[in-house]
Amino acid sequence: MAKKITTSTLLKMKQQGEKISTITAYDASFAKLFDQAGIHAILIGDSLGMVLQGQDDTLPVTIDDMAYHTRSVRAGVENTLIIGDMPFMTYATTEMAYVNATKLMQAGASMVKMEGGSWLTETIKALVERGIPVCGHLGLTPQSVNVFGGFKVQGREACQAQTMIEEAKALEAAGVQLLVLECIPADLGAAITDAVTIPTIGIGAGKDTDGQILVMHDALGISCSYMPKFSRNFLQDTGDIKKAVELYISEVSAGNFPGEEHIFK
Ligand code: KIV
Repeated sequence: MAKKITTSTLLKMKQQGEKISTITAYDASFAKLFDQAGIHAILIGDSLGMVLQGQDDTLPVTIDDMAYHTRSVRAGVENTLIIGDMPFMTYATTEMAYVNATKLMQAGASMVKMEGGSWLTETIKALVERGIPVCGHLGLTPQSVNVFGGFKVQGREACQAQTMIEEAKALEAAGVQLLVLECIPADLGAAITDAVTIPTIGIGAGKDTDGQILVMHDALGISCSYMPKFSRNFLQDTGDIKKAVELYISEVSAGNFPGEEHIFK
């Protein structure tokens, strides 16, 4: 019988040099398939604003949307770690984070994810002290798309890269147990992964992060928008959803995904 995956499992995988595969899901049926395929973690991403709701970005997503989909995913999962994404402005203060993170944990998440750097450290510390594990998210944090002036690779300037390394360390010191790195140069993905002891999960962050995450619609080539450079259509290679996810897991594990064509310099 497969064992439940926890934050300790992921930490051990980093320490043993085993690659972690994660994917988004938003309902019980896909979550069950991914769980049975052996995925290590499922993120109920606020990307659902784009791939389910057809919005231009993730900003319109509400905490009630997230709780609904978290409950749906929980119903399909036996072993995989479930991460609930905190949507735009639901953790702007520590008090708001208490209320909203509780909603996701009570809907079935085992960890919550929040986008941002050192401004978040007090909130992270407070949540962890009260029993809520936190996953950080640095780089192209989509909730800040209007500040970035579009969905653009982050950390290309040396000083930006240095700041991101310092922010990763600050998040770790605050208690974050997992860190998503999105759309950054591959060298920076490797440098951050070396600088922290917690597992890093990349999406467009090169092959040297401790694991990878993809939006399920991209991994299956069914997204209603364009296919990002960092993704690959695994369904095209297999013609079967469960096999596609098994291939994704084995390609990540073998170090074959992401390839040179998927990374940013
Ligand atoms: O919302 C989401 O799906 C995410 C992943 C892209 C990491 O944050």
